[in-house]
Amino acid sequence: MKAAVYTQYGSPEVLKIMDIDKPSPKPNEVLIKVYASTVNRTDTGFRSAIYVISRLFSGLFKPKLQVLGSEFSGIIEEVGTEVTLFSVGQKVFGFNDATFGAYAEYLVLNEKSTMATVPNNIDLHEAAAILEGSHYALCDIKAAKVRAGQKILVNGATGAIGSSAIQILKSMGTEITAVCATQYQELAKNLGAHKVIDYMKEDFTKINEEFDLVFDAVGKSSFSKCKPILKKDGIYISTELGKNSANIFLALFTPWFSNKKVLFPLPTINMEDVNYIKKLVENNEFKPVIDRTYKLDQVVEAHTYVDSGQKIGNVILKIN
Ligand SMILES: NC(=O)c1ccc[n+]([C@@H]2O[C@H](COP(=O)([O-])OP(=O)(O)OC[C@H]3O[C@@H](n4cnc5c(N)ncnc54)[C@H](OP(=O)(O)O)[C@@H]3O)[C@@H](O)[C@H]2O)c1
Repeated sequence: MKAAVYTQYGSPEVLKIMDIDKPSPKPNEVLIKVYASTVNRTDTGFRSAIYVISRLFSGLFKPKLQVLGSEFSGIIEEVGTEVTLFSVGQKVFGFNDATFGAYAEYLVLNEKSTMATVPNNIDLHEAAAILEGSHYALCDIKAAKVRAGQKILVNGATGAIGSSAIQILKSMGTEITAVCATQYQELAKNLGAHKVIDYMKEDFTKINEEFDLVFDAVGKSSFSKCKPILKKDGIYISTELGKNSANIFLALFTPWFSNKKVLFPLPTINMEDVNYIKKLVENNEFKPVIDRTYKLDQVVEAHTYVDSGQKIGNVILKIN
């Protein structure tokens, strides 16, 4: 089968299209014919390995798992003898950053992996983009114990995480201020933002307003700059470690020394999260924003684009 393989860490060019063996499912596994994957910041992060911490999982000097692709959608083609949760012919979507593997025509996964059947109201290719940004956003929103009526500011509202955060926060009944570039003001409003700040014209950290949560989905700000716009017990969360990994230290110390605090939740995903987001899709409260679509053969181009840090929502990689 055709796959995008990488045998060393580095720039997008380390990805090569090759023929590799088609996997076959063990008794508790399903074989999925992959329709689409995505090129996201999780995949590009593991490919470049610029965050040394990712090497602890993927291999210190070279990648142990050589096919990336954390998100997928596809159709179950075969099930192992002990599989009870899925059957042949079902359309599925999922997120798997434990073994990746969706940049290939076929993928085998344990039936208990974080995947579910595709809701009827979404295209099979689009379904590949449901979970990456949304599960990071949900993890942070849960950590901040967000409640209806709270005032939330989302910086980086056009990214995979930011665009997901706005839709999830809207479904929870919060009042959202989104920060994004001039040309995406309408998009942010359509996703559910009540107010939009154009970061090209205004510094959001200097506005005369206070928020229960400042969620920097693109990791471009800092706690010290955002402190003036946090309410007395306000929370600051960033998706990046910050300068000198400051956000980790602040997350350890601010809860002890200040009412305003930093949280840095470790990203997790479980079936409860998958079903939560699936329900939002079914209720038409969540739809992944799709920027561009590339074919598997164009994987280097797709990674180069995502490396720019300027994708809007999600980039689909069509496999079959
Ligand atoms: N903590 C984790 O486990 C984890 C996991 C995955 C990703 N991440 C990190 O989370 C961040 C966001 O990921 P993502 O997938 O959502 O990113 P993304 O989809 O690549 O999007 C980044 C978005 O931010 C916008 N942007 C760039 N500079 C901005 C600025 N100064 N102010 C406001 N918006 C700006 C970009 O659009 P314009 O440039 O056109 O405005 C783009 O739409 C990345 O830094 C990534 O490394 C963290």
